[in-house]
Amino acid sequence: MKIAFVGKGGSGKTTLSSLFIRHLATIGAPVIAVDADINQHLGPALGLDDDQAAELPAMGARLPLIKNYLRGSNPRIASADTMIKTTPPGEGSRLLRVRENNPVYDACARPVELDGGAVRLMVTGPFTEADLGVSCYHSKTGAVELCLNHLVDGRDEYVVVDMTAGSDSFASGMFTRFDMTFLVAEPTRKGVSVYRQYKEYARDFGITLKVVGNKVQGQDDLDFLRAQVGDDLLVTVGHSDWVRAMEKGRPPRFDLLEEPNTAALRTLRSAADAAYAGRDWERYTRQMVHFHLKNAQSWGNAKTGADLAAQVDPSFVLQESVAATA
Ligand SMILES: Nc1ncnc2c1ncn2[C@@H]1O[C@H](COP(=O)(O)OP(=O)(O)OP(=O)(O)O)[C@@H](O)[C@H]1O
Ligand SMILES: [Mg+2]
Repeated sequence: MKIAFVGKGGSGKTTLSSLFIRHLATIGAPVIAVDADINQHLGPALGLDDDQAAELPAMGARLPLIKNYLRGSNPRIASADTMIKTTPPGEGSRLLRVRENNPVYDACARPVELDGGAVRLMVTGPFTEADLGVSCYHSKTGAVELCLNHLVDGRDEYVVVDMTAGSDSFASGMFTRFDMTFLVAEPTRKGVSVYRQYKEYARDFGITLKVVGNKVQGQDDLDFLRAQVGDDLLVTVGHSDWVRAMEKGRPPRFDLLEEPNTAALRTLRSAADAAYAGRDWERYTRQMVHFHLKNAQSWGNAKTGADLAAQVDPSFVLQESVAATA
């Protein structure tokens, strides 16, 4: 299943993503962790030191390799140059699986050892001024979106993306790629204003959005969040001394995480598992086509000089059985 952590800057997206990833590692689940946030901090939050984090290969810099691999022998995609971040898979495309080895993971993923097992970590690479502008084709998260659209994930396999709630993910359709979106919110007006904006975008696309309150201290904080987001509030996490120790570079064993916070992580997993059970592969495919046609029209056709609508394979549905035959 595919899970995103979004929210306002500084709300705790990276912290909660990293705790959730550690939690999944302890149950032995296969995990691909993706850092697609503007501030690239997931590696350090998973225990990498500065040198190790700096050596992580940037997906954004390996787009040609990713496109070439995913294109496979899809006759509707003339060349990797005409592939944009929303180009959907079709017959002949290569798909990704969570557990396999493939050239994309070889180039872009690195194993990170955690208590309980290793996860694969992929990072978009640092964002520059240009990435934050309006030019969609500069987008660093394009590599992530392409991979998500070609990734056939099973029930007990987890793809966890640390992401901003920014406008780029709305323009591209990235926000529709997840079975579960955890919106991390501090109990403040700014924290919940991002929720409202996200909810607005999410409504039309049937996004499963749940709020995870963070740095919640006491009843007043809880009451505030409940009043602002209602039933969308899934669970809250309090201040964590474990997180503080980790931030100091001295992470205790993960089983020493405070019990209420461990319980919160279990709640996140149950909610994500339940959301995956409702995965509608046809809708998932339809939405990627929708955003592809939108991007093709607004800039893709002009940029590539091709009619990108012709890349859509009308009979293709991304689903588990396709991966088996591809
Ligand atoms: N539950 C918590 N207990 C203690 N410290 C926390 C908790 N949640 C977050 N923090 C701290 O708050 C700071 C911001 O958290 P974090 O980096 O996870 O936020 P973010 O949303 O990823 O921020 P950015 O937008 O900069 O990427 C960090 O120093 C982190 O250690
Ligand atoms: Mg972050």
